Amino acid sequence: MYGVISILHAVSWSIVFGYYFFWGVILAIARGKKDLDVKIENEFMKGTLNVLPPVMAVSWIVALATGVWKTATIVRGSWSIMYSTTWGWLVTVGFAATIAAILVGVTQMIPTCKAILAYGRGETLFKRLATLERINFSLVIVIMVVMLLAWAY
Ligand code: HEM
Repeated sequence: MYGVISILHAVSWSIVFGYYFFWGVILAIARGKKDLDVKIENEFMKGTLNVLPPVMAVSWIVALATGVWKTATIVRGSWSIMYSTTWGWLVTVGFAATIAAILVGVTQMIPTCKAILAYGRGETLFKRLATLERINFSLVIVIMVVMLLAWAY
């Protein structure tokens, strides 16, 4: 069972990380080199908004649920490990950052995506979405660093 949960964790975190790598690294380089027109990017983003939010929401929730399951299997009831060892602190920081990112998604991003789909073309909504993406991109970097450190520890 632990193997299945680990595969689900790996698939879900890969989807989350893959999206942010594309948005935060590949598109950022294209924007910096002026190879990407903001208007075209906004149109492109709008075209993904019926698909992207549900796929990301499911991936984040599966990463959270399988992560908690993996943690519970590893600690076997000794939850004090979470604050008395470096491994525990790393996973705890990853957990807190995951909750923060999901809250940003549910309370801010989903309403912004809905507003873009409903009213369309205003630059302000796209700027707001980009700021929220930046926040969650930073959280994903933190989560990846602490998770990989915990795994290697
Ligand atoms: C989107 C959020 C998350 C990302 C990007 C992520 C990423 C990762 C990565 C890259 C690994 C190492 C490779 C692997 O074992 O698959 C890992 C392992 C792990 N993750 Fe996550 N994770 C996330 C959420 C969580 C959450 C919320 C928890 C727990 C509360 C968690 C608990 C764990 C545990 C216990 C391991 C195994 C560490 C070990 O083997 O020592 N993860 N995660």
